[in-house]
Amino acid sequence: MQKKKQLYEGKAKKVYETDNPDLLIQEFKDDATAFDATKRGTIKTKGIINNKISKILFELLESKGIETHFVKQLDDRHMLIKRVEIIPLEVTMRNTVAGGMAKLLGIEEGLKLKEPVLEYHYKDDSLHDPLINNYHAKALKLVTDEELDFIEKKSFEINNILKAFFDRKDLDLIDFKLEFGRHKGKILLADEISPDTCRFWDKKTREKLDKDRFRRDLGRIEEAYQEVLRRVTS
Ligand code: TMP
Ligand code: ASP
Repeated sequence: MQKKKQLYEGKAKKVYETDNPDLLIQEFKDDATAFDATKRGTIKTKGIINNKISKILFELLESKGIETHFVKQLDDRHMLIKRVEIIPLEVTMRNTVAGGMAKLLGIEEGLKLKEPVLEYHYKDDSLHDPLINNYHAKALKLVTDEELDFIEKKSFEINNILKAFFDRKDLDLIDFKLEFGRHKGKILLADEISPDTCRFWDKKTREKLDKDRFRRDLGRIEEAYQEVLRRVTS
């Protein structure tokens, strides 16, 4: 499958059309941004690593009955995906307090939550992806009632699957972000699942093995991404 016209360039990925109107090619870049792209950098080979990790996780989820936009990996940096209309909601699932939740509520990072917390953020960089609730999402017609019920149910299922998977890899899945899209009357899990979009802490040492190393200048960034790939494939 060949790349045709570039449809879109985001902060970490590019998307291209193909000969098939239902299929697109997603290219993973090494570019990294944080804080609404006010911080910019490159993480060497990140694109290759995130493509591989996303492939493995999409296949895992598909095998457990979660429908995703993933079709197949084409090469190091490219993935064939189903064309979806992205729903402008970022679904954040949290198992342990970190990042945005720690800041919002003045709680120390690392508190294990009694049950997972699902958050919706309105996907709009110029507004800094503001936290909204299910009433906002429906009243603003970002999603229908039925779609939101489906997204919520699937997000908790995805959390259970991923948490158990990473636990076997000695990684604590602290939180992550999902995006969904519409494709031929269905809602599919879209975007990527990688150390860019998840927080992973080593179960024993609590070392951060994700994009927080870039956001917070913790060093050993490439090594952390490689380590997650190593564990995911081991
Ligand atoms: P947060 O604590 O900063 O809200 O992030 C929650 C999770 O979402 C974390 O695993 C990182 C991921 N995330 C993204 O994928 N994209 C983003 O733009 C942000 C802010 C977070
Ligand atoms: N990718 C986001 C940005 O550049 C934020 C993040 O992941 O921290 O704004």
